[in-house]
Amino acid sequence: MRIRKLSEITLAAIMSLTILSCSKTTMPYSDVVDQKVDSILMLMTLEEKIGQLNLVTSDMDVTGPFIRKGYEEDIAKGRVGAIFNAYGAGYTRKLQELAVNNTRLRIPLLFGYDVIHGHKTIFPVPIGEASSWDLEAIERSARVAAEEASAQGLHWTFAPMCDIARDPRWGRVVEGSGEDPLLGSLIAQARVRGFQGTDLSQTNTILACVKHFAAYGAAQAGRDYHSVDMSERQLREVYLPPYKAAIDAGALSVMSSFNDLNGIPATASKYLMTDILRNEWGFQGFVVTDYTSIMELLHHGVAADTLDAARLALNAGIDMDMQSGFYNSALLKLLNEKKINEEQINQAVRRILRIKFLLGLFDDPYRYCSISREKETLLSNDNLLAARDMAKKSIVLLKNQNNLLPLDKNIKTIAVVGPLANSQRDMMGSWSAAGDWPNSVTLLEGIKNKIPGSQILYAQGCAIDDSNTGMIDEAVKIAKRADVVILAVGEAAWMTGEASSRASLDLPGVQQELVERIYSTGKPIVAVLMNGRPLTIGWIDQHIPSILETWFLGTQAGNAIADVIFGDYNPSGKLPITFPRSVGQIPIYYSMRSTGRPFDANNKYTSKYLDESNDPLYPFGYGLSYTTFDYGEVELSSSEITETDTLDISVSVTNTGKYYGREMVQLYIHDNVASVAPPVKLLKQFQFVDLKPGESKKMVFKLTVNDLMFYRDDMSYGFEKGQFTVYIGGNSRDVRTAFFSLN
Ligand code: GLC
Repeated sequence: MRIRKLSEITLAAIMSLTILSCSKTTMPYSDVVDQKVDSILMLMTLEEKIGQLNLVTSDMDVTGPFIRKGYEEDIAKGRVGAIFNAYGAGYTRKLQELAVNNTRLRIPLLFGYDVIHGHKTIFPVPIGEASSWDLEAIERSARVAAEEASAQGLHWTFAPMCDIARDPRWGRVVEGSGEDPLLGSLIAQARVRGFQGTDLSQTNTILACVKHFAAYGAAQAGRDYHSVDMSERQLREVYLPPYKAAIDAGALSVMSSFNDLNGIPATASKYLMTDILRNEWGFQGFVVTDYTSIMELLHHGVAADTLDAARLALNAGIDMDMQSGFYNSALLKLLNEKKINEEQINQAVRRILRIKFLLGLFDDPYRYCSISREKETLLSNDNLLAARDMAKKSIVLLKNQNNLLPLDKNIKTIAVVGPLANSQRDMMGSWSAAGDWPNSVTLLEGIKNKIPGSQILYAQGCAIDDSNTGMIDEAVKIAKRADVVILAVGEAAWMTGEASSRASLDLPGVQQELVERIYSTGKPIVAVLMNGRPLTIGWIDQHIPSILETWFLGTQAGNAIADVIFGDYNPSGKLPITFPRSVGQIPIYYSMRSTGRPFDANNKYTSKYLDESNDPLYPFGYGLSYTTFDYGEVELSSSEITETDTLDISVSVTNTGKYYGREMVQLYIHDNVASVAPPVKLLKQFQFVDLKPGESKKMVFKLTVNDLMFYRDDMSYGFEKGQFTVYIGGNSRDVRTAFFSLN
């Protein structure tokens, strides 16, 4: 009892120190925070230290293979440092009280959750938000998510997902920002800013988590959890930049990925978790594994037993064990067998306790558990408006033959058809976490909201993914009665996200038959795609006059799509990932190398397929508008620069159509000759321009030698003098060119 008394007095002294000084700890790490952490660490037993390294799921939500019962008892016994999949001001308070009132040192829990694209107000899936290329809107989306998640007792989100992905067979394409390292990096930074704000101790900010480190998106054959094998060059040029960008933006936790990288599972990779993450990048936060990843070292075949797996993970630099329980069961034994040392455990505990201090949890463990804030924040009108704005900007117009769109609001009869036309659940997309799908607005409802005076007919036509064609006749019947058909096809939300790889990218089930039967009516058709990955929709591209890519747009989906269909918003989205014509082309992305035999239609012996084009169905950066934009000649401030110069690259963009519109102007660079075969082009900068009909604006980009750097033949990062080609346009294919040299 006496020891307990002493520790309580000591802890009370520390807490008072905290209360006095907490407001001063604005820097991520300062001596004050470190002193407080060390003063607690010295009081902790080994069991208490090891308990802090254990992250377990509640049974409120399921995001992995299994849930361990008895987590509440583990909390009360100090065997848990953090909980995930538990939210709600009341429930998190209950679990926090278990830790604070029952454990000797009253160390508060950390509460984490997958707040991937909104919390209660669900925003477009991340690949949809990425289609907006609007970094401010994306930051605001993350800000709203942080406001709502923190109002429900959460301190930590397992986002942003920073995995570059170039294989749409992989289901988690939906969670990322597409194929390009620059766009992926800038979006990752926007999300970190939105989540963490400038001060983690504020009750409306949450800790970000950079995942899945690293290169998870390159899973072989697009099959989830599969091995990743790539050169150091590709790892550093393509896959690492978004993770680093997120860390440079201040993200203070990282999640190890399931995959092995060149044979070494990320969770056991000292190269990734220590050499790169800490020694090269200076990362100061903590590293958590993905779900049961330490246990999965057994399945990878790099660990013979629990002790082996826990030792490998700790030695690699893993601080927190998500859900495997291996740290709790093995670290003490490993210590006694001198296979690890106590300082390794202390270091992991320090990293975690620092974050708890920064979040203000030692100051007040219940500061995020406010019932009143929960009530006033969730699904507020402002949040719904932000979600609708983000959704509109996420829509990509892929085709609009004869300007069928926008439709007239006075249209007499409209048929809304398809398995996704009235599906509230699917509008939320995957990883919609705390989102309640009954709150979502379907396409049918959005159209009814928009044109209440018209006759709106509806038929499901078929299921998303079964062989029943029995409902198609009914759909054809109502289509024949309409002036225009809005046809909503695509994937079910559960077909995308984790553990959702597909070997085919065709429309599932009998949807293609539905499309062709509706097409046979001869009615004008607007195809509305709802999907989490590029689909091979060549037939639709050839036959359907207007096509909107809407991904899964979240709570306000139907209203946002109706805004675009009826012209209240002129679509401005641009694809962040290439659409292949067929699965056989994968991987296909805009920044490929030329090869020694670039395609030549007149020469058999060049790089091509006998049965398919080399070209994508839609290229990276592609998206149309209801208006048209004309690009003038590209002008350069000089045709020659040195490494200290800035090159001004300008182009005049004119709105030559009849609608106000937003164009996302993209600047690409090609290094004509380099010590490493250069990609045919690389995105370097992009800017929005909003133009009234007839209006022109001169866009200016400022290029420096930093934009020309790459991993040279000796893997040093730098530039090389020589000739460069500038490409500017509204996508990666249709571009204006200019030339300059770096001397
Ligand atoms: C899942 C996912 C990861 C998620 C975690 C917690 O398996 O891979 O992205 O954050 O487990 O739910």
